[in-house]
Amino acid sequence: MTGNEIRKAYLQFFKSKEHLILHSFPLIPENDPSLLLIGAGMAPLKPYFTGKLVPPSYRVTTSQKCIRTDDIDNVGRTARHHTFFEMLGNFSFGNYFKKEAISWAWEFLTKVLELDTDKLYVTIYPDDKEAYDYWHNMIGLADERIFKFDDNFWEIGEGPCGPDSEIFYDLGPERGCGKPTCTVGCDCDRYLEIWNLVFTQYNRTKDGKYEPLAKKNIDTGCGLERLASVIQQKESNFETDLIFPIIEKVIAISGGDYNDPRQKMAMKVIADHIRAITFMISDGILPSNEGRGYVLRRILRRAVRFGRLLGIKDLFLAGLVDTVLDILGDEYPETREHEALIKQIINTEEKQFSATLAQGMELLNDMMAHVGDDKVLTGAEVFKLYDTYGFPMELTEEIAGEQGFKVDKDGFQEAMKEQQERARAAHTKVSAKVATPDTTKLDQSKLVNDETAVKATIAMLGKEGVEISEARDGQEVTIILDDNPFHAEGGGQLSDTGVLCAAEGKAQVTDAQALPNGLVYLIAEITEGVLRTGDAVDIAVDKQRHMNLARNHTATHLLQAALRKVLGNHVNQAGSLVTPDHLRFDFTHFSPVTQDELDKIEALVNEEILKAVPVTIEEMALDTAKEKGAMALFGEKYGDIVRVVSVDDFSCELCGGSHVANTSVIGT
Ligand code: ALA
Repeated sequence: MTGNEIRKAYLQFFKSKEHLILHSFPLIPENDPSLLLIGAGMAPLKPYFTGKLVPPSYRVTTSQKCIRTDDIDNVGRTARHHTFFEMLGNFSFGNYFKKEAISWAWEFLTKVLELDTDKLYVTIYPDDKEAYDYWHNMIGLADERIFKFDDNFWEIGEGPCGPDSEIFYDLGPERGCGKPTCTVGCDCDRYLEIWNLVFTQYNRTKDGKYEPLAKKNIDTGCGLERLASVIQQKESNFETDLIFPIIEKVIAISGGDYNDPRQKMAMKVIADHIRAITFMISDGILPSNEGRGYVLRRILRRAVRFGRLLGIKDLFLAGLVDTVLDILGDEYPETREHEALIKQIINTEEKQFSATLAQGMELLNDMMAHVGDDKVLTGAEVFKLYDTYGFPMELTEEIAGEQGFKVDKDGFQEAMKEQQERARAAHTKVSAKVATPDTTKLDQSKLVNDETAVKATIAMLGKEGVEISEARDGQEVTIILDDNPFHAEGGGQLSDTGVLCAAEGKAQVTDAQALPNGLVYLIAEITEGVLRTGDAVDIAVDKQRHMNLARNHTATHLLQAALRKVLGNHVNQAGSLVTPDHLRFDFTHFSPVTQDELDKIEALVNEEILKAVPVTIEEMALDTAKEKGAMALFGEKYGDIVRVVSVDDFSCELCGGSHVANTSVIGT
């Protein structure tokens, strides 16, 4: 059977057992901040297991695209490590349990795939008597073929988990280590785990507690590439028809020799990585320096380096995409849909990295030649390779490791942090001079933010970070009001400004800043007389400025939504500025935006303005907001209750800024 036939047979088999076949979920987890990327068939199904969402069927089967990078250094070195792989799975949400899961797994392996029963072994969790009984009494597996291991328990971050039972295939003594102790569970290649049946009965909470689930579930995972290697009797997953055609293409491009162990490893790395790259980009991930984008960048640059090791001088990675699509494009049409984008992004990134790779290598070799006796490259050195030559830290570590050197990872992180702090310091506008004094002694329950307030009392005055009791003409001070209508700077939006009038003095408010706890302090210049703590003040917020900020902020949301509709969902906010007279929106895209695209974006935004749509602002739980599809900034920390700003079905974002009540107010 081909790999594609095995996948189809699996899904059809479970369909015949009344499972609903679902298409693979995207690699980017939806509404699950605990995961960077989908790494198991069950990961996108977590809400069905916990009962948070009602599944479309209580029995589901999928072939899920997965990315795992914990063992990336092993990829290419072993028979079965991958960054990208397909996981076949059958799932029960409170429906069937151990008995059916075990008997169907056995039926599929022995009746459909016709694997030799004498070569199959299983493992179970030591006190899972129920699983033992099904394997022993129902299936008829002899006691010596059932192994009990403490680590037969499966979990992935927060969420559903439980004891499991794994099925192993004996590839024969010629694949083993030959040690007398070699048996199921040995590290060598002889006994291959081909299927994991997880009896999901707990929910692991954020703080590591295991709560029993109301309903017991089944989660299984069967690696398609492994199964193919068994059925097709190949030495490793890489020789199966799911991957080998890519290696053949690499051989053709490089003129390399697959029998040379070093070249073989390089070819395996490239073949594995190009699959991951193709699927990640087709799901909307772009190379960058953080999060998923960094994972992609790291994989891509590792592949480029192994290509150069094979002697390939020109750009070559994008040329492998066709082969990936020939193999997997029918099953995953989303890859074909984005073919041009995938190739373009790969080419851009490969070109960029190639430009610095040779120089970086020279520098790295020089560093290794001059390293101290401990053979450890310093954090500063590794950081220089990262910052100037685009070497992901892990790549430097791998190259150095090949020659017996280590890198100071902590030192690298330290250097990275220092650079971020320098950048942040350069951006911080507010000088210490205008920082508020210590506010902890204020009774914060008496201080409120209220956009409509026109009168208030001065709760605190400060100068150069020190509390004062009165401020006089010409002084620049900080002021905290008990009832504050000024919107503080935040989320790219500049603050409100205005005037305060007390009985004996006046102040011009030039800025408003928020402390992390939400307390707003004003930065003001005393323009007349004197202001004292406890003074009552009349407040005039500059309404024109406030409305212009609101107009530009709502327009920024419309713009982001339009950008995503026209350019694709990979467009994410990378920075923004909302001022009274203009807005700026930063985002990453793989090429310049064309005039035609600009026209479309402009038309879409104008259409929403002319439609005169109400803008709604609601507070809700973070989970509810995410379920609603509200856009949030990746990596940003939000509280449990968030503010959601929506414009019809067009735009929905978490945002604390000022907005108009109706899009028509934005005007031209
Ligand atoms: N979730 C289980 C695994 O990934 C089936 O192994």
